[in-house]
Amino acid sequence: MYKSIIRPILFKFQPETIHHFIVDGMKIFFKIPGISSLTRCFLKVEDKRLNKTVFGIDFPNPVGFAAGFDKNAEVFNHLRNFGFGFVEIGTVTPKPQSGNPKPRCFRIVEDEGIINRMGFNNEGVDAAVARIRKQNNKVIIGGNIGKNTATANENALADYEYCFEALYDYVDYFVINVSCPNVKDLRKLQDTESLSAIISSLTGRRANKSVYKPILMKISPDLTQVMLDETIELVMKSGLDGFVATNTSTSREGLKTNKERIEEIANGGLSGMPIKNRSTEIIRYIANKTNKSIPIIGVGGIHTPNDAIEKLEAGASLIQVYTGFIFEGPGLVKKINKEILKRHI
Ligand code: FNR
Repeated sequence: MYKSIIRPILFKFQPETIHHFIVDGMKIFFKIPGISSLTRCFLKVEDKRLNKTVFGIDFPNPVGFAAGFDKNAEVFNHLRNFGFGFVEIGTVTPKPQSGNPKPRCFRIVEDEGIINRMGFNNEGVDAAVARIRKQNNKVIIGGNIGKNTATANENALADYEYCFEALYDYVDYFVINVSCPNVKDLRKLQDTESLSAIISSLTGRRANKSVYKPILMKISPDLTQVMLDETIELVMKSGLDGFVATNTSTSREGLKTNKERIEEIANGGLSGMPIKNRSTEIIRYIANKTNKSIPIIGVGGIHTPNDAIEKLEAGASLIQVYTGFIFEGPGLVKKINKEILKRHI
């Protein structure tokens, strides 16, 4: 029903318009008494065999919503009704910012992908914290943190520190995002020197806290082999707790959508089916190189239960979806969890 009736209607509108419509719609819909639990009855798979403890956190199931959808911590509790075991909010930045000029998000339906250059549009970390404080968290939350576009890379560390401190008491784990292609020069922070400074500052701050919160590094699928090896080495040495692999890609290789359309869309991070294999390759590479000694959240192009199994078999402990949820609809999480149970993974 989603793919034959609902999706064709939704896809007639700009992706960002639909995004706001869905987020606002969820806020109203789930206010109706009984609707949350009814939705969970249909869409959530409750089974102890899906429980998984990863980096010290007990996840009810291994399927999460990736960063970028609930940027402002508005609907994380509602997303749990679709069966998600965890939700990553953000990317948040210290100050609110409007992001890049619109339009900045495009579906490429033939490829089952999205190209976005949102540019960390968000209401700022303090607004996200205020929202989380108001709600009774019913789902595990990851806090994905970044820097403001106006902050020069030399001063980026202070932005990560600000978001980290502001969110510390309100999220279950952190993700350092230096891999988004849509904020000018952000990916330059992926060099070892900048990364070391961010990691050592955040792990140092964590050492003074009474509660330990895992910190993960989200990586780009476009890293060169040398940079990937350096990042793995750094993460392993520095006491970080895991990887999120991967973010979106600037590559346009192998797309079916015609060249003129792709050129017209221009810059942005590619997600969905076209990045599936590259993301799985990176997960497998990290898992092999580290002898599976560090957890990986696998993300990128999961549109079917089989795609999810592929990521888990490649070495991911948990997985996340974003574009697949848009293309396949809210039944996807249930299908994935059922397949995991069937395969005893
Ligand atoms: C994203 N993604 C993303 N990632 C991140 O770390 N911070 C962010 O703010 C965003 N924003 C964002 C917006 C949109 C519109 C999309 C489609 C994606 C990347 C996302 O979390 C994920 O890593 C990739 O999209 C790959 O997964 P999928 O979409 O192929 O399942």
